[in-house]
Amino acid sequence: MKVINVTASKNYDVIIGEGILDSLGERCVSLFGKSRAVIVTDSNVKEHWLDAAKKSLQLAGIETLVFVFSAGEDSKSKETLFELLEFAAENKITRSDFLVALGGGVTGDMTGLAASLCLRGIPFVQVPTSLLAAVDSSVGGKTAVNLNAGKNLVGAFYQPSLVLCDTNTLSTLPDEEFANGMAEIIKYGVIFDKELFDKVRGGDVKSDMENIIARCVELKRDVVAKDEFDKGDRQLLNFGHTMAHSIEKCSNFEIPHGSAVAIGMVIAARASHALGWSDEDCTAAIIEANKNNNLPCECDFAPADLADIALSDKKRTGGTINFVIPKVMGECVLKKIPVDVLYQIAEYK
Ligand code: GLY
Repeated sequence: MKVINVTASKNYDVIIGEGILDSLGERCVSLFGKSRAVIVTDSNVKEHWLDAAKKSLQLAGIETLVFVFSAGEDSKSKETLFELLEFAAENKITRSDFLVALGGGVTGDMTGLAASLCLRGIPFVQVPTSLLAAVDSSVGGKTAVNLNAGKNLVGAFYQPSLVLCDTNTLSTLPDEEFANGMAEIIKYGVIFDKELFDKVRGGDVKSDMENIIARCVELKRDVVAKDEFDKGDRQLLNFGHTMAHSIEKCSNFEIPHGSAVAIGMVIAARASHALGWSDEDCTAAIIEANKNNNLPCECDFAPADLADIALSDKKRTGGTINFVIPKVMGECVLKKIPVDVLYQIAEYK
């Protein structure tokens, strides 16, 4: 088992280990006392992990309510968010109570935002059950739902009180979901840690997930401690994401986030090398890592469409955009580029 303490506007532990879901209840009692909990989960995760989470809370003496929503990105909406808030209000949730996000990124992001809004803020616990949530979205306090105009356009920085990652939950992930999480792990390797990249580039990772997840969380802890509110270094985590958001949108969200990030990293590396911004061409290594981890490397969308969508993305500031480029493998930097240059970058798809 690994325990990593995150220092941000709230200090909290990220605990990673096999079979630790059973300890959810006792850990929550020591944080919140014998209050009440609302477990928030989706229709898929409910089948696998709800009973264990609920049993652990109840055995510890915590009265437990459950809010289940339909699995999928469509539920990351203001409608589901407000259904959850109404549910909490109808059940007279107070500021001594807490929410438990049991699931992947959609569940964690939406539950965190609900916790920030409910009675102007109640605590919440992240229990990530997808690899993507374990290595990235459950840590660092970014919460959000989507609007019609785009993804994550309404949200808050709101840190959890605990992140409890039971690596056994990865066993019920479909292969495609596992691959999506691997894209974010490859991303952490390219941005910060060549050793991590080399560990995962061959794709044979399943026996070492506790260490791999813990390393990603350490890297995220460091960047969140420096820049919780995403004004500087935290934007490095957007490596591959500028084009990824366009790819997701061009595909009507048929291409999942991790696959889009995998393609976006290849485009960013290839363009950075071709435009003379990198000291090392990282493209071939990223392609190899993607392929070995069952991730795509290219897409068929028109470069102009990809650039148009990237321009409307929220990361645009005035006439420039912060674009993440790999200097060398294991070290990325932010480069302020004129927005028009996105049209050139998209040509390297
Ligand atoms: N997922 C990127 C971040 O938390 O900043």
